[in-house]
Amino acid sequence: MLTLQNVSFHYGENGPEILQNIQLNFGRGEFVAVTGRNGSGKTTITRLLTGLEKPTSGRVCYNGQDVTREDAAARSRFIGYVFQQPDRQMFMSTVREEVGFGPYQQGKRGAELDAVVDEAMHKADVFRFADEYPRTLSRGDQQRIAIASALAMHTEYIVLDEPTSGQDGREKKRLSALMSQMREAGITVILVTHDMDIVAGQCTRVIVIADHHVAFDGTPDVLFSEGRPEEWGLAYPASVRMGRSLPGAPYCKDMATFCEMYRKARGIG
Ligand SMILES: Nc1ncnc2c1ncn2[C@@H]1O[C@H](COP(=O)(O)OP(=O)(O)OP(=O)(O)O)[C@@H](O)[C@H]1O
Ligand SMILES: [Mg+2]
Repeated sequence: MLTLQNVSFHYGENGPEILQNIQLNFGRGEFVAVTGRNGSGKTTITRLLTGLEKPTSGRVCYNGQDVTREDAAARSRFIGYVFQQPDRQMFMSTVREEVGFGPYQQGKRGAELDAVVDEAMHKADVFRFADEYPRTLSRGDQQRIAIASALAMHTEYIVLDEPTSGQDGREKKRLSALMSQMREAGITVILVTHDMDIVAGQCTRVIVIADHHVAFDGTPDVLFSEGRPEEWGLAYPASVRMGRSLPGAPYCKDMATFCEMYRKARGIG
């Protein structure tokens, strides 16, 4: 369990308060979305979890142990991070070296290192780029290289900061499938996103950040069927909107559910 306990934060000496008294637990096996308006502090929360920023007050705990003062390198034993701009985290000359950097730092060498790197590159579907220079590849490919780097470290948690923004439908589908695979492998996925289709269709939990606080923390179906997501600038997923137009207004978490409900309503199949 990874927790933020009464965490408040501002940048610099006297910067404006970004987060106030944040209380959050991230349990094993969850697929958690973190959402909210631009500038609400989503990336800041993930930087606090990974150790790239330290809280102004409050604590970060991992399995009951206070890790607030541990830096990002120390915390990489349990949490991996895919940046909003993945090219900023790539500095090696080949994809293979890039993916191998983390496990090398963890002390892996030789055949053991090669095996974890190959496995991670295959899982993230970047094996064919193994000997290429990461920074000249497309953003989607870089995103999956960053995911491979995180997978190679075998962390319990992985944070992905808006991986699908600006990606086309095909790339989004690949990323969605990859995130589901990670979750099935027992990794807790923390996804910063504005994509409400992914939130409704895939996430087990959604956290909304607004006005420096946690404005909502619950399941996507409660957010979209009982909550007022529009107050926080969030759109309804297409499947949820369309489901509401059917008799009985069923909650449809994805388009497959909508199609099933539509057929039932029409008495087809
Ligand atoms: N390094 C920094 N120094 C000072 N202020 C910062 C810094 N990084 C972010 N901020 C400010 O902190 C606030 C929260 O930023 P953050 O990047 O966490 O928001 P976000 O929810 O991730 O936004 P977006 O949806 O645009 O990615 C914003 O007002 C931003 O301008
Ligand atoms: Mg951000």
